[in-house]
Amino acid sequence: MRLIDQTDENFLRTGKFGRYGGIFVPETLVISLNKLAAEFQLTLHDPKFQVKQVEGTFKDATSDAIRAWVEDLDNSYYLAGTAVGPHPCPAMVRKFQSVIGKETRKQALEKWGGKPDVIVACVGSGSNALGIFHEFVRDEDVRLIGVEAAGTGIDGAKHSATLAKGEVGVYHGAMSYLLQDDEGQIICPHSIGVGLEYPGVSPELSFLKDIGRAEFHTVTDKEALEAYSLLCRIEGIVPALEAAHALAYLDKLCPTLPDGSKVVVNCSGRGDKDVATVFQYEQEQQPQ
Ligand SMILES: Cc1ncc(COP(=O)(O)O)c(C=O)c1O
Repeated sequence: MRLIDQTDENFLRTGKFGRYGGIFVPETLVISLNKLAAEFQLTLHDPKFQVKQVEGTFKDATSDAIRAWVEDLDNSYYLAGTAVGPHPCPAMVRKFQSVIGKETRKQALEKWGGKPDVIVACVGSGSNALGIFHEFVRDEDVRLIGVEAAGTGIDGAKHSATLAKGEVGVYHGAMSYLLQDDEGQIICPHSIGVGLEYPGVSPELSFLKDIGRAEFHTVTDKEALEAYSLLCRIEGIVPALEAAHALAYLDKLCPTLPDGSKVVVNCSGRGDKDVATVFQYEQEQQPQ
């Protein structure tokens, strides 16, 4: 551990992790890189530069990020990683994520000589779904299916099914479907996939629901866990628990499709981060 600590300290100063790293660039870049390194050192030791850990869900992290931004506009920058928040954040995220759909179109053409028939993606706040949907929104022969988290059951209080159960409201600076009670207070979302625990959803997915261009369904924690295990077992791929919701929906979808249908599932992330959650869930299911 000491070795790692010392090496890491050295890395921040010199850019060398043992024999690795360093600066192997054309001489013309050296002055710019030196200036950047000097600014980086100053920023690192500036008490105002801090990474604060937030207890709670993605919803709480977003609230804290916006709060920190409002408190210090001159020195802070709000960087949204998902398609929610005030304009232009959702538009920027959608634009950047849309490479997923473009790549899907290209690969489908190479592999199948055409478009997919159905595209399935999980929906937390909407960035991975929009990333793959956007390219195909105008192709009405491509079915777009978003899968939300039903948690412990869509009829109870523990789910994140914003499009299925929410009402329109304003949250984190934008209007969308929202999980809220009769007084307009936010209902805390729940899902075994923490990235799906958000009470709102992107404005664009809200619109696609209203015009009927995309369909939205739900999958419980239990169904997502089964899909997670199945993909590990039969493909050797460990999907994120969020993505496992999209995979789980195949169980309901595939028997309804004609033979030979081409289905793309957006695997939004890796599941090694979720191994402890899955282990704990399985332990809790064991008879005492
Ligand atoms: C792996 C993964 N997939 C999906 C999501 C859900 O977010 P979104 O609906 O914005 O893609 C998250 C959110 O953190 C995530 O980490």
